[in-house]
Amino acid sequence: MRIDLLMSPHQTDDLTLRDKKIVVVDVLRASTTIATALQNGAREIIPVASIERAVKISGSLFGDAILRGGERNGKMIDGFNLGNSPAEYAEEKIKGKVIIFCTTNGSLAIERARYARTLYVCGFVNITAVAEAVEKDDSDVTILCAGKSGLLSLEDTICAGMLVRMVSDEKTSSVDLSDSALAAATLHKSLGRNIHKMVKGTEHGKYLQSIGFGDDLSLCSQVDAFSVVPQLIGNAVKLKADSLRPETGVQISA
Ligand code: MLT
Repeated sequence: MRIDLLMSPHQTDDLTLRDKKIVVVDVLRASTTIATALQNGAREIIPVASIERAVKISGSLFGDAILRGGERNGKMIDGFNLGNSPAEYAEEKIKGKVIIFCTTNGSLAIERARYARTLYVCGFVNITAVAEAVEKDDSDVTILCAGKSGLLSLEDTICAGMLVRMVSDEKTSSVDLSDSALAAATLHKSLGRNIHKMVKGTEHGKYLQSIGFGDDLSLCSQVDAFSVVPQLIGNAVKLKADSLRPETGVQISA
C-alpha cells in the first residue's frame, strides 16, 4: 500500500482523485461535526460547496426532514438551522434528519473527491475506526486535508500524520509513504503528544477561540470518542455499514 497526502483540496482536482481511496480530514471542524452528527443519529449529510446549492437542494422538505448546517468564517450562515459546532449536533435536534452541509474547506474537500472509489471522513474523534477501515484492503490511499483556503493547517496535517502512523505501523515495510505522508507522520511524532494543546495553538484554533467556540477545541481533540466511519455513498455521507463497533480506545503514542 502507498500512502499519499495532500495538504489542501486546492492542490488537486476531481478527475485526479477519481476512483481512488480517499480519506478527508478536517479536524476543525467539519470532520468532527460530521462524525458527531452520524454518531447522534443523523440519517445522512449531503456536503455541498456553495450556499446557493444548499438552499436549492433543501427544497420543500427544508426545516422538517431536512436541515441546513454549516458556516462561513466559522459562524452559522443566515437561513441555516445549524452552524458547524459539533456541540450543536445533539441527538434531539438531528436524529433521523438529512443535513445539507456547507462549510468553507471541509465540504469543499469532500465535493472535490466526490468521484473517489471510496471516501471516508476522519478526525481525531474517529481515527482508529477510520484506520481500520483503510486497512481492510491493501489498495493505495490518499489523505486529503481540508487545510485553510488552499494552505496547510497544522491540526489536519498532524491528524493525517497520526493516521499514517496507525496504518503504516512503522514496522510494516509493505507500506510506502510519499514525502508529504512522511512529513505529516514526523510532525505527529514531534507535536502530537498533547492533541488539545496542539489544536489550541493553531491558527484556526486561535480564531475559533476568539469568536467564542473555544469549547469546540476539546470536542475536536478527543481521540477515539466515537467508532463511526462516515463514508460518501452517492452524494451523501452516511455511516459505513459495519462501522458501529465497541470502543477500543487505541491511541498511538507520539
Ligand atoms: C471548514 O470547513 O472550513 C471548517 O470546518 C471551518 C470551521 O471551523 O467551521
